[in-house]
Amino acid sequence: MNEVYANLFEPIKIGNLTARNRFVINAMECCDSDKEGNPTEKTLRRYKRLAEGGAGVIDLEAITVTYESRGRLYQLSVEPRNRKALEKFVSEVKAVNHEPLLILQLTHSGELSHPDFSRRVCVKPLAGFGGDVIDEAYIEKTMDQFVTAARIAHDAGADGIDFKNCHGYLGSQLVRPYNDRKWKYGGSFENRTRFTFEVYERIHKEINNPNFIVGSKVSVWEGFPGGQGSAGPDSPVMDISESLKLVKGMEERGASFIIVSAGSPSITLALSQPDRKVPDDCYLHFTFQKAVRDTLKPETVVIGSAYSVLNNGNNQLQARKKEENTLLYWAGRNIRDRVTDMIALGRQSLADGQIPLKLMENREKNIKWCTACDNCIELLIRQLNVGCATFDREYVEALKQIREEEGHLKAKRT
Ligand SMILES: Cc1cc2nc3c(=O)[nH]c(=O)nc-3n(C[C@H](O)[C@H](O)[C@H](O)COP(=O)(O)O)c2cc1C
Repeated sequence: MNEVYANLFEPIKIGNLTARNRFVINAMECCDSDKEGNPTEKTLRRYKRLAEGGAGVIDLEAITVTYESRGRLYQLSVEPRNRKALEKFVSEVKAVNHEPLLILQLTHSGELSHPDFSRRVCVKPLAGFGGDVIDEAYIEKTMDQFVTAARIAHDAGADGIDFKNCHGYLGSQLVRPYNDRKWKYGGSFENRTRFTFEVYERIHKEINNPNFIVGSKVSVWEGFPGGQGSAGPDSPVMDISESLKLVKGMEERGASFIIVSAGSPSITLALSQPDRKVPDDCYLHFTFQKAVRDTLKPETVVIGSAYSVLNNGNNQLQARKKEENTLLYWAGRNIRDRVTDMIALGRQSLADGQIPLKLMENREKNIKWCTACDNCIELLIRQLNVGCATFDREYVEALKQIREEEGHLKAKRT
């Protein structure tokens, strides 16, 4: 095996469990549940393919703890009514390949809940978002929902959960300095992290199984005034000291992994998903990964995001030899240099989530590399089923059709 990435195939312990290699499939919501938030045949097909692909960990996309407030019309849901469907789903994915650790990303969309079909709620109205302002009773109910969701994930046979604290969803909204509202969950760092830390404590009390791993994906810097990792409620200046205190606090409450991210896609899209035009933001992600790695105990696993834009070197990154500006080069190098312990594949997992398998079988040439065209993001924004609209004919056609329909409509109007 090529020595640049050989270390990607070293197993790693996460809590009491072991991931067979350093590849993680990052959470990627694909909006193909049924009307009750249950997985469909399409959802199952996607995850079976990923399971075959041989990654060490699969983080199942943002799954809502409350169907009432959700960001996507066909978003997966983890409420008591979804219990049976999730049990079946997990066992069917594991039947394909039981090796990847399967974790569920639990979320509440808060101000990113879509008002057209769900109830939008918020911590403190933010320009362009808003919604019903939540109170302490609402937070109590939400904490119960997270704990119930963790119990359902555990009983369904999942290996753990990723309690989402990134990308502007409710976890972020509470933690960010912008939440300077005078209430039990706002103002001081202690108040703003009360929800997150208490959910950790309650989940551990409820599940009490050392073989069930719990962690979080965190936006270390959201990149707008008052966002996570900024110096104050309206400050645009980056100060990630609180984000580091946040991940430390999670570790102290039993987190065995942290998925490092940045940005808030509804506001700072190119930061959370470095694109072809601004690929250099991936270096910012590396910087955050290193900062988190240096903060946590060696045994807490750090998982880095935002590698897709590097692909096989077909990118606009400057100042290095072309062969050193690739996903595999930086993945191997960052693991070697203890910048991160694992590498999560986001958009790349839609283009081709079978990288580990193909590398193991010496089929590197067959890998379909993400072009960072962001057609998948367009599908997501349009609330359509999401997949790779560059390599996967079904999604290419769906996007083409909707763009054509829009074109016809526009032409009719003019
Ligand atoms: C279509 C799409 C869906 C996504 N869904 C989620 C999600 O459910 N949860 C999450 O934390 N991040 C989500 N993300 C962000 C990715 O997991 C990842 O953090 C980001 O794309 C950067 O990684 P990449 O460069 O490998 O794509 C999504 C991104 C895209 C493009």
